[in-house]
Amino acid sequence: MGITNKLENSYCELSTQFCLDGEFLGLMAVDGYKLKYLGLRNTSTDFIIKVPKEYRGEIVRTYTVGDRIQVRGIKTGEKLKAVNITKTESLIQSPRSPQTTNIPPKSSQLKILLCQKSDCCQKGAKEIYAGFQQELANRELSDRIILKSTGCLKQCKQAPNIILQPENSKLGRVKISQITEIVDKLEKKLSK
Ligand code: FES
Repeated sequence: MGITNKLENSYCELSTQFCLDGEFLGLMAVDGYKLKYLGLRNTSTDFIIKVPKEYRGEIVRTYTVGDRIQVRGIKTGEKLKAVNITKTESLIQSPRSPQTTNIPPKSSQLKILLCQKSDCCQKGAKEIYAGFQQELANRELSDRIILKSTGCLKQCKQAPNIILQPENSKLGRVKISQITEIVDKLEKKLSK
């Protein structure tokens, strides 16, 4: 299934096109709390590509981490912006990939992103946020595992929702009773 942006026919003069095949690493936040970017691993190189707002929800619903995808888009300076995203069966080296620039991932820091919008709040997201805050403080992990609130993750039926980074694994219908277990798992990763 492909996602095509209206911008496809309106490249600006300073932009070039890129085409990348690789493994979908999930949606991610960079310098903020909104999941505006997708990660793509092409052989051993990771790329961060901005996704137009209107397609982020569809990506969350349609793609899972590990899917093979092809992303075509616009490269402006160091920035990559997706125009077309397609699921593919296998990795194919793109003849146009040399036009792209390698942008290393900014952080592999552990983060808990917690939706704080209405559906999730009605199902206890504020209390869960406070619970994580308390648990991290109790274990003196607040500066090593970052807790952040997010906008709607487009998974409202599974509210309350969280995303664990850097893997971008999604957890729905999170309960206060799961907080200890989730922080246990993250703490183990810190010690690896
Ligand atoms: S309100 Fe939380 S996922 Fe939509």
